Amino acid sequence: MSKRIDVKNLDIYYGEFHAVRDVSMTIEPKAVTAFIGPSGCGKSTFIRTLNRMHEVIPGARVDGVVEMDGKNLYGREVDPVDVRRRVGMVFQRPNPFPTMSIKENVLAGVRLNSKRLSGKAADELAERSLRGANLWNEVKDRLDKPGSGLSGGQQQRLCIARAIAIQPEVLLMDEPCSALDPISTLAIEDLINELKQDYTVVIVTHNMQQAARVSDRTGFFNLEATGKPGELVEFDSTQTIFNNPSKKATEDYISGRFG
Ligand SMILES: Nc1ncnc2c1ncn2[C@@H]1O[C@H](COP(=O)(O)OP(=O)(O)OP(=O)(O)O)[C@@H](O)[C@H]1O
Ligand SMILES: [Mg+2]
Repeated sequence: MSKRIDVKNLDIYYGEFHAVRDVSMTIEPKAVTAFIGPSGCGKSTFIRTLNRMHEVIPGARVDGVVEMDGKNLYGREVDPVDVRRRVGMVFQRPNPFPTMSIKENVLAGVRLNSKRLSGKAADELAERSLRGANLWNEVKDRLDKPGSGLSGGQQQRLCIARAIAIQPEVLLMDEPCSALDPISTLAIEDLINELKQDYTVVIVTHNMQQAARVSDRTGFFNLEATGKPGELVEFDSTQTIFNNPSKKATEDYISGRFG
């Protein structure tokens, strides 16, 4: 189910602004790939191109190729809605639908994809997704209560349950722990570790310990000395990036020395 992603010479623009320059990399299946780098270097922009969410911004475009198991996601015949179903996304702030019940929050993405779900199938899918997100035991007795009644960490796991309910092949997470306390953060990190058994997981994080703890491979994005555009400075095993980076800019960033 999980997929390999090959990015080839990808340039990303907002109108005239060249936000990310000439990225080529391979994102392995059944592994966690982390992206780190200073604010504004293009991490969010880059991961949004992996599920064709970048182009929903007026004037935004990409140049280059993103292949999933060898097939270009930007091919003319490809339906972006289908890409977004296959490549799920979890955002920085937990964003459950506040008035919707916990169960309906989990099923919201599936219903949007206009799949009809019978009562029993809906119950089963909700349970499976909540178990997958490590949330089932905490919510099984209040599935009909609103999602907004959960703690921040529970809400983020609810959003992960919603993302995996549509059975994506790839899961993108943009700073999924930045609004969470340390205990909820550890719960999400454990979950990420489990999710990689089934999914290709891509995570953006400002927390370097987190990147070191959860990821197999790490990419360091940086702004060019001129201030733009963002470039992928180094991409390697997490071990290498943190212990023996080959570029000075990477070493300076991970050891907290900037400029
Ligand atoms: N909708 C947009 N329209 C125009 N420019 C944008 C838009 N979104 C982002 N940018 C610009 O693209 C560049 C990369 O932004 P991006 O949000 O990808 O950075 P980031 O690495 O995710 O930063 P952060 O760590 O702060 O989240 C920045 O210069 C930003 O101002
Ligand atoms: Mg960002």
